Amino acid sequence: MAFPKGFLIGAATAAHQVEGDNMASDFWLMEQMEHTSYAEPSLAAIDHYHRFAGDIELLANAGLNAFRFSIEWARIEPEPGKFSAEALNHYRAVIDCCRVRGVEPIVTLFHFSSPAWLIRQGGWEAPETVASFARYVRYVAEGLGDRLHYVFTINEANLGAQIAGYIKLAANGDADGTNIQMGLNLEGRDAEAAAMEAEYRELFGTPSPASFNTPRTDQGNRVIMDAHRAACAVLRDVCPHAVVGLTLSLHDLQPVTGGEAAAAEQWHTEFGQFMPAIADDDILGIQSYTRAFVGPEGMLPTAPDAHVTQMGYEYYPEAAGHLVRRIASEFNGKIMMTENGVGTADDAERCTFIERVMADLEECVSDGVPLVGYCHWSLLDNFEWESGYRMQFGLVAVDRTTMERLPRPSLELLGSYAKRIGA
Ligand code: BGC
Repeated sequence: MAFPKGFLIGAATAAHQVEGDNMASDFWLMEQMEHTSYAEPSLAAIDHYHRFAGDIELLANAGLNAFRFSIEWARIEPEPGKFSAEALNHYRAVIDCCRVRGVEPIVTLFHFSSPAWLIRQGGWEAPETVASFARYVRYVAEGLGDRLHYVFTINEANLGAQIAGYIKLAANGDADGTNIQMGLNLEGRDAEAAAMEAEYRELFGTPSPASFNTPRTDQGNRVIMDAHRAACAVLRDVCPHAVVGLTLSLHDLQPVTGGEAAAAEQWHTEFGQFMPAIADDDILGIQSYTRAFVGPEGMLPTAPDAHVTQMGYEYYPEAAGHLVRRIASEFNGKIMMTENGVGTADDAERCTFIERVMADLEECVSDGVPLVGYCHWSLLDNFEWESGYRMQFGLVAVDRTTMERLPRPSLELLGSYAKRIGA
């Protein structure tokens, strides 16, 4: 069995995690604080800003036909209302580099890092952020829209909603952050709380800056949904040909006896509450990393005997197929798996993960599920947020002293599925 003609198989990245020197962003400042929850600062990251052509070449040579990357708002608009034509030209060059190699560029307009000024103005809890985001999106759409086909407005729009849940989970005794899908260090945040607040006040004018990776209130979730709708309206207006949506981080929720109601509630937190904002979208990006068992009180910590990834959550490739089927039954548009992968030092484990995911997704597609593509997280080992550079999600390893790229067997393996598309 093979994926049908037109199916996309690629790899994903995000600007702040790979580009380097994202100095106008909130994350850059938070990483540099004396008291910080970040294991280390991103600094030059893996210098993808200057090495993108070689990175895209590696991906294309392996046979992959899609590259998902994000445009960095803090580079495009380093000060409110002041746009950088140079940054815009950079992303135009990235898109063109993909096209020349027959690779579909899949663009995310916002992947967690914000301009620092946005956070000083109230960040992701402030209603004014909706207009600021729409203004940024208009600038990008007017400059690049003619070249874009797949556009995702906000990466993991539900991240802050999930984090609010994780904090509850930590308070209930799961303080190691099991089940957490992004490199967060909740303990680090707690331990340093008072000292961090003072530094935050200096940098952002508030002891609790509403950056994207902080717990969201219901009001904040509304801001995000409104920002998405406003961005969609701009994209419809400027580049009506684009296929537009957002992405959500989703657990494959599996209730244990008595956990059905809590699982339904968790699904509402992760997916249902966003439905009104995405129901008319062309596409939904699903990001799947693991499953979570749910008991009567909510998500359960990862079982002590589970096979876990570097991130501490369960190695469970079957989550991807389960989620694609579940979403297909609740959402009307196209579906793309915009992220899926595993942090591991053992590439053989990554290869098995890919094989198990691909087998399930091929079945989904042959059963008629409107899945249009798959992007593996990640093309390259990169900056895993608060966990720093210790996580290995890449199809390609990077020696950060020389910035040398070292492709792993998993890159060829994923490429072999792409080469068989339409066969
Ligand atoms: C995020 C990525 C992150 C990945 C692996 C996703 O939640 O979109 O930025 O690196 O998970 O943890």
